Formats: sequence, C-alpha cells, structure tokens
Amino acid sequence: MADITDIRTRLQACGQEHLLGFWDELDQNGQETLLEQIDTINLEQLQQYIEKFVASEPVPVTPDDITPAVVLPRKPANDEQKDLYQRAIERGNELLAEGKVAACVVAGGQGTRLGFDGPKGSFQATPVAKKPLFQVFAEQIQAASLRAGKPIPWYIMTSRINDTQTKAFLRRNNYFGLDPKNVRCFRQGTMPAIGLDGKLLLAKKGTLAVSPDGHGGILPALRDSGSLDDMDQRGVTVISYFQVDNPMVKCIDPLFIGLHDLNQAEMSAKALAKRDPMEKLGNFCVVDGKTSVIEYSDMPEDLARSTNDQGFLKFSAGSIAIHILSRSFVQRLTEGQSCSLPFHRAEKAVRHIDASGTKITPSEPNAVKLEMFIFDAMPLADKTVILETRRSEEFSPIKNAEGLDSPITCLHHQVRRAANWLKAAGVELPLDAEGQTAAAIEISPLFADSAEELAKKIDPSLTITGGQQLYLGSRGQIGGAR
Ligand code: UTP
Repeated sequence: MADITDIRTRLQACGQEHLLGFWDELDQNGQETLLEQIDTINLEQLQQYIEKFVASEPVPVTPDDITPAVVLPRKPANDEQKDLYQRAIERGNELLAEGKVAACVVAGGQGTRLGFDGPKGSFQATPVAKKPLFQVFAEQIQAASLRAGKPIPWYIMTSRINDTQTKAFLRRNNYFGLDPKNVRCFRQGTMPAIGLDGKLLLAKKGTLAVSPDGHGGILPALRDSGSLDDMDQRGVTVISYFQVDNPMVKCIDPLFIGLHDLNQAEMSAKALAKRDPMEKLGNFCVVDGKTSVIEYSDMPEDLARSTNDQGFLKFSAGSIAIHILSRSFVQRLTEGQSCSLPFHRAEKAVRHIDASGTKITPSEPNAVKLEMFIFDAMPLADKTVILETRRSEEFSPIKNAEGLDSPITCLHHQVRRAANWLKAAGVELPLDAEGQTAAAIEISPLFADSAEELAKKIDPSLTITGGQQLYLGSRGQIGGAR
C-alpha cells in the first residue's frame, strides 16, 4: 500500500497537499482508499497538464499544410469502384463468417446534457417499442451474427459512474438475447477534476472528484481490462466502434469492414456531408500528409467556410464517431506504459467540497476536465479509409434533453428512415397535410436491418393507417407493441 509520508511529500511538491486536509477525520479504511486513489495518479505528469491546460489555455494552431481528406462515396461512382465495393462486401462478410469482427460501443460518458438518471444505454430510444439503446445494438449484433453464422462478441466500455448499473441492466434484461459469454463490459480510466486555480477537487473528504477520461480512453482501457487479449484469443482482428447515443448507427457494416480490410487500413471512419460550415462535427482533413480530424472548435472560421473551384465547401466531411480499428493497431498504440493520445480541455461545473468540507454545487464551470478523443488516433494510423454515409440512414445522436440532437428529433429520424425503407419496398404510407408519414413505425433489426433486407420480407400490400403505431418485430410479427 502507498505510504502516507511519501504521498504527502509528493503532494507538497506539486502544491496539492490540501487533498489530505481531512486526513485525521477519516477512518482507516477511508485513509487507505484515499491513498490508493492518489497513488494511481501520476502527479508529476498531472502537474504538467495543469500548467498546459489550466494555468494557460492552449491556442489551436492552424496547420500550414492542410487539405480536405479523400472520402469514398456512399455509392460507387464508376465501374472500378463498383467492383471494389462488391469485393469489399464479400470480404466483410467473409471476416464476419470467420468470427474476426467484434462490435465495440463506448458508453462511459456522463451524459450531462441529456440529464438522464442512469447509463445512457438504458435510455428508451425507439418510437413504438421504446427499446433502450443497448437493446437496439444487441438486436443488430444478433441479426448480423445469425447472418454470419458466427457470434460477434460485443465489448461495452463503461466508466466508474455507470459500470455497476450497466452490468446490472444487461443482466436484468438477459443481455437482450445475446449469449453473456459474448458480451464483455470493460471500464475506462478517470482523470481528476482540476479547479480553475489548478488545485485538484475533492468530491468527499476521502475521495477525489474524477471524471471518465474521454472516449479516447478506450485504447488504454482495452489493454488494461484484458479485452485486447480476449479479442486475440477469440481471433478477432477488426473492431467495429460506435457510440452509445446513436441508435441509427449500423453497428456491423460488411462494406465498411471490407473496405477497411482490402485497403489494409489501421483505422477507418464514416463521414457525412456537414449541414453547414459551422456544424459541430469534427472535420476530416489531411495535415502534413496524415488523415486527421480537426474539432469544429479548433477550425478557424474562414477555413471552415472556404469553398473549392466549384463553389462547394472544401472541408465538407464531418466525423460522426463511427470507426473500424484493427486490433493490431490498438495493440501497437498501447504497447508500453503510455498511450499517446493528446488531452483536450473542457470547462465543467463539478460538484465538490470546499476547504471547510461544505458541499458546493456550482452553476458555472469551476473546473477543467481532461479528455482523450478517439479520432486523435487517425493520424497515427499508417493507412485510413473514410467512407461517406447518409445522415438520414445512419446518424441521429441523442445528446440534449430538447432541441437539436434530442430524443424527439431522433424519434422523427427513426420513423423517417423506417418509412423510407417501406416506401422503397413498395408499401404505401399514410401522409399528413405536410407530406410527412402519419404513423409511428419501428422496424426491429431482427426483422430487417436494411432497406434491402426489408424489401425481401415485406408484403407491399401491407396497409398502414394514419395514426397507427406499427412495430415490425423479431419473428416477423406485425403489431402495435413488442
Ligand atoms: P459525448 O461527447 O457526447 O459525452 O460522448 P457524454 O459524456 O456522453 O455527454 P455529455 O457531454 O456529458 O452531455 C460521446 C460518446 O462517447 C462516450 C459516450 O458514452 C458517448 O457514447 N464517452 C464519452 C465515453 O465512453 N467516455 C467518456 O469519457 C466520454
């Protein structure tokens, strides 16, 4: 166990000895826990971060050598591409049939903007059956596994704030039909919250205030949790990465997987055309010859608004946090002690106790949170593939309680996609006065997880009436509820 004298000296050396301010009030257990928590922090390195991110604020530098990244179109543009996409789908399906693909969702975030009490994966997100996000993904994974004839293991990144609840939720729901052997939760790391004066905050007398270390924390967490080894043992070579807040994501996409593999890419990404130059999505660029994502907040406005010869936005490809990572790439990046993704700073309101032990709930940001972002791994990859997708098919995140990117916008988008699939299959839909679908429709991924799949299964003479709640369920049942 860590030694109090040693810890006190180290804390004094970096001006953080206030963390022991309530030492004498703690019982032995409390003292041990606090020492252990402090001992896991690299105090000397943290001091450097405080100087870099708190004492001053890093100013983003616009690189000199920056060009838009090459993006493969959603649909092949010529015969050569048609052939490539066909081969990619075959290759993707082959990898799935060989059991070489894993699904991986990052679900360790705090979800403060949504303000939902519980892991975001347990949030009811679908229009008719009100399925939680985890169920939507589980059903997609099951559908893809059945097609492949091989189970697709599912790795779920949790964090200290929701790990126990997430595991209990999955257990309570029988893993939504998946074999628990193929579902593995692993916990990401944390970073201490740093007050704006550079002092670390205490959440309680014997506990530091910490927050998850960002979705980029997946890299060390995969290694430290033994998940990379587990993948190795299962023969997994390709990781399909997505976020917990986007129920429209195609968790397993043979085309995307195949393009990644045929190009021998280490990390790939899906992109979509930004709605407007200032949309809050990372920008795919090539910086000094490396594919990179520049955060919207770091992109100078004139560059974000710049256009090409045809008058189109130059940097139009936005990042939506859907990736393929090669296991060998993650292994390479996490070899040795440190994992080299940079930290980003965000100011947050963090609950804590003050020097007198009084609980403070600030209404304004009072602390700096340091997070790693997964897209910062892109420039570290030797090869990358970026594939365009369509917003209406694959992206509608639930971030905010209301307004843009909220549960209500996501419900609309899910219904619109289901309606588009039905329309493409020849089914007539009831419309309201504005030409919008006048029924709530939900298609279980176990019924069909693409327009093509639906067209094979649906009877085009299906009658849908205005105001109907239509659910196309797992075993082909058609009803109003699950
Ligand atoms: P967000 O950037 O939306 O953050 O995460 P958040 O913490 O969920 O929500 P806010 O900002 O507090 O409102 C995008 C994705 O990355 C995951 C989230 O769970 C979500 O799937 N994430 C984020 C993590 O897994 N760990 C983190 O530390 C941060």
